[in-house]
This record gives sequence, structure tokens and C-alpha cells, in this order.
Amino acid sequence: MDRFEFSTVPQLIVERGAARRLGRLLRDRHSAMRLCLVTDRFLHASGLLAPALADLRDHGWEVTVIDDVVADPPDHVVAKAADRARDARAQVVLGMGGGSSMDVAKLIAVLCGSAQPLAEMYGIGKVAGPRLPLILMPTTAGTGSEVTAISIVTTGETSKSGVVSPLLMADLAILDAELTVALPAAATAATGIDAMVHAIEAYTSARLKNPLSDMLARRAMQWLSRNLLQACREPSNLDAREAMLLGAMLAGQAFSNAPVAAVHALAYPLGGHFHVPHGLSNALVLNHVLRFNLPAARPLYADLARVVQAEYAGADDLAAADGFIRYMEELVRATGIPRSLREVGVAQADLPMLARDAMMQQRLLVNNPRPVSEEDALAIYRAAF
Ligand SMILES: NC(=O)c1ccc[n+]([C@@H]2O[C@H](COP(=O)([O-])OP(=O)(O)OC[C@H]3O[C@@H](n4cnc5c(N)ncnc54)[C@H](O)[C@@H]3O)[C@@H](O)[C@H]2O)c1
Ligand SMILES: [Fe+2]
Repeated sequence: MDRFEFSTVPQLIVERGAARRLGRLLRDRHSAMRLCLVTDRFLHASGLLAPALADLRDHGWEVTVIDDVVADPPDHVVAKAADRARDARAQVVLGMGGGSSMDVAKLIAVLCGSAQPLAEMYGIGKVAGPRLPLILMPTTAGTGSEVTAISIVTTGETSKSGVVSPLLMADLAILDAELTVALPAAATAATGIDAMVHAIEAYTSARLKNPLSDMLARRAMQWLSRNLLQACREPSNLDAREAMLLGAMLAGQAFSNAPVAAVHALAYPLGGHFHVPHGLSNALVLNHVLRFNLPAARPLYADLARVVQAEYAGADDLAAADGFIRYMEELVRATGIPRSLREVGVAQADLPMLARDAMMQQRLLVNNPRPVSEEDALAIYRAAF
């Protein structure tokens, strides 16, 4: 077996209703007093976080809510949020929300822990540390950010940059399926597809693929594929919601160690230029990238076909890999989310610019099972148009 490394969070709690007794849970682990809860304005105003806030205050926490997070958070939003946390003399950082809130919480924890500026943190292994204690609770299932060593920030007008560092790994991730019940069907679908893409791209990663990530990715695909449509159609089905949350978390552990590739590289420019939500932008290019990768990833797609559909157990790789792509196509279609770039406001004339931008995501493209040139990216966008 090739040498490999694997890391994940040191502690996980999976508990329905954990948010309602969050003050107690955190009081058992920390003697500090001042906590910053990082979230977005919609979630704060929606009341979703109210039971958690009440229990935190009941257990002696002085809570400052920082609800400046916006989707695909820009660097200036992160910097301002960190200033607020510093002003509040935060001792513990708690991120509650989707990937955007959790990613900002991670960065606040490192920005409040040392004087290093954000601009010096982009890339792999650049965070100096130390950081404040960090707890993450996802409300989407989803990015898996609660167990990844990654934060994604929008830099400048339209580009997405990643901060990748072991210091971004939380001390504790808490998965409470009740927090995901109010997520609308379209967002459930898009964030669930994002999680599946994490599992697929980890399983086929050209770099750092390893037996533990493989195991996690396969189990993630099993849970996510069996529960996605049910979670969309029966929003308060807690079994389906919890399976999605667990699947997204396993996929997060998989891709944090065996990184994602061309689907994400081609999705990012759609978020940057057209504000297409992260999961939806992945879903829009997914099948076209899978078809492009097929010659290089056939046996691996065949494995995944056998994970999601028993009927491929005895099939050869050719049939199974093709079946996997059709399965994913059908699943995305069944969710009812947009299927083409034109439906989300992209014009044909934008495609060359998107292809140019995708080429900037070399951090991700190096992980793709098949090399992607700018012409290839353009052909994929044309197919997705
Ligand atoms: N750090 C990582 O490992 C990682 C991985 C993948 C993606 N990302 C990043 O995460 C971000 C995307 O995160 P996301 O897809 O979770 O979405 P998000 O955090 O951007 O939230 C999207 C919307 O959903 C709403 N929402 C969240 N939870 C809800 C709930 N329970 N009920 C109702 N509404 C709810 C939010 O208020 C927001 O309006 C992007 O910036 C992406 O680049 C990070
Ligand atoms: Fe993603």
C-alpha cells in the first residue's frame, strides 16, 4: 500500500436536538465565558438559532452574534467579521450555518488567534496560528466544512481562493439533523449534490487518494443517494435528514484528504460571476465533467455504480461506469433544479471567459483524473450550456 496521511476533527457529536442543549454541551468542555456565534443574517432572523442562543445564555455564555456572513463570503466580509470578534474579545468561536458561515468561523478563529493577515493565508499550509477554540454546526448537508481543513473565500470581484491548513480543522463538530429541517427543497438538492460531488471527486482524485477516503466516499455515496430525494420531498423526515448530514460529513472527511477536482474547478467561476449557489454550480457541470473523465476513471465510476445501484453488481466496468453517469443525471433531474447554464443567466458569449477563469483553479485541476485544457473546459461549458 502507498504511504498516505489522513486527518479529521478530534471530536464529533451526532445528536438530534443538540442545538437545544448547546450551552450545556459547550459548558462541559470550556471554562471560557465569551463566545462568538458566526452565522448569516437570514438564519439569525429566521429564529432557527434561537433555542441554541437561549441555552448558551442559560449556561453563562456571553454571546456575540456575528451575522454578517453572505453566501460565497468575500474577503472584506471575513475581515470585518474578524474585527467584530476581536472587539468582542471572543474566547471561543462557534460557526452555525451552511458552508459559508462555517468557513468564515474558521477564518475568524485563526484571525483572532494571531496577527497574521488573511492575504497571507491563501494556499496550502500557510496559516501560522495559533487559533481560538473552534466548534462547527452545519445547517446544510452539504459542504462537510465542519470536518474539512478548508475555507473558501471570494477574493477580488469574482475569484474563489482557498485557505487550506490543519489549523482550520475544528475542535468539535456537532451534527443536529433538526437544524436542517427548514432547508428548502431546492437548497437541499443543491447542497446534497455538492456532497455527492465531494465523494465522487475524492474517490477519483489523482492525488492523495487513499483507502480511508475511499471507504468514506463509498459510504457517503450510499447514504446520500438513498436519502436525497426523500429529504427534498419530506423535509421533516429526520431519518432522511440525518442520513444526508452524515453522508455530507463523511464526504467532507474523504475530500479533505483526497481533494476535489474539475467539477469544483469549473463550478467556481459560475459562483464568482453569476452568483450561482455552490451546490447548483457543481450540479450544472457534473455530468459533463464525468463524461469527459470517463476514459480515465472508468473502473472507479464502475465501483461507484455498484455502490449506488445493486443492479450493477455483476456488470462489467464499461456498462457500470456508463450506468453511474446516467444514474447521476437522472438523480439531478429528479430534484427539479436547473439543468443548464442558460437557465441560470449565463450567455453563450460568457463561456470563453468562464473557461479562462476555470484554468486559474490549478489547485483543484491537478487532482483531476484526466488533464483539463482550456479548450476542454470550454467544450464542457458548451455541453452544459
Ligand atoms: N470548507 C469547505 O470544505 C467547503 C466545501 C464546499 C463548499 N464550501 C463553500 O461553502 C459555501 C456554500 O455553503 P452552503 O452550500 O452550505 O450554503 P451557504 O452557507 O452559502 O448558505 C446558502 C443559503 O442557505 C441558507 N440556509 C442555510 N441553512 C439553512 C437552513 N437550515 N434552513 C434554511 N436556510 C438555510 C443560508 O441562509 C443561505 O441563504 C461556498 O462558499 C462554498 O465555496 C466550503
Ligand atoms: Fe463543494
